[in-house]
Amino acid sequence: MFECMKIQIINGPNLNLLGKREPGIYGNEGFEAFFEKLKSTFPAVELYYFQSNVEGEIINQLHQVGFSYDGIVMNAGAYTHTSIAIADAVAAIKTPVIEVHISNVYAREEFRHHSMMAKNCKGIITGFGMQSYQLAIQSFIEL
Ligand code: DQA
Repeated sequence: MFECMKIQIINGPNLNLLGKREPGIYGNEGFEAFFEKLKSTFPAVELYYFQSNVEGEIINQLHQVGFSYDGIVMNAGAYTHTSIAIADAVAAIKTPVIEVHISNVYAREEFRHHSMMAKNCKGIITGFGMQSYQLAIQSFIEL
């Protein structure tokens, strides 16, 4: 029987405020509305969305899906630059993770240029606005 690809999107701290938070950098769209569009763009993929501002909850979610899902698209927000624990969780699981950012982190402050988890990820997509998530899902489908 044909089984759908399962992809988990994980958003980290402050990304629950998308649409309200610094719209000049992150745009005017909330993630929930964007997620509905994503689901209709990829009808053949089972897409799941999880957001938390809590480091340990992000790690628990990585553990929960990281041995059975086909892909994880993660925007860990500021934890990208600081969290050894999330980087270790990405290394510990089997499911490949693509790191995404809405803004181009390399065009911003220097502290955003380093990612703790990048070396454990399949790749990074940064600077394409909300489309960064779409490109990551597309790459899981095509590769
Ligand atoms: C971000 C970039 C991070 O540096 C920042 O802390 C975020 C959002 C992005 O999507 O552009 O919270 O991950």
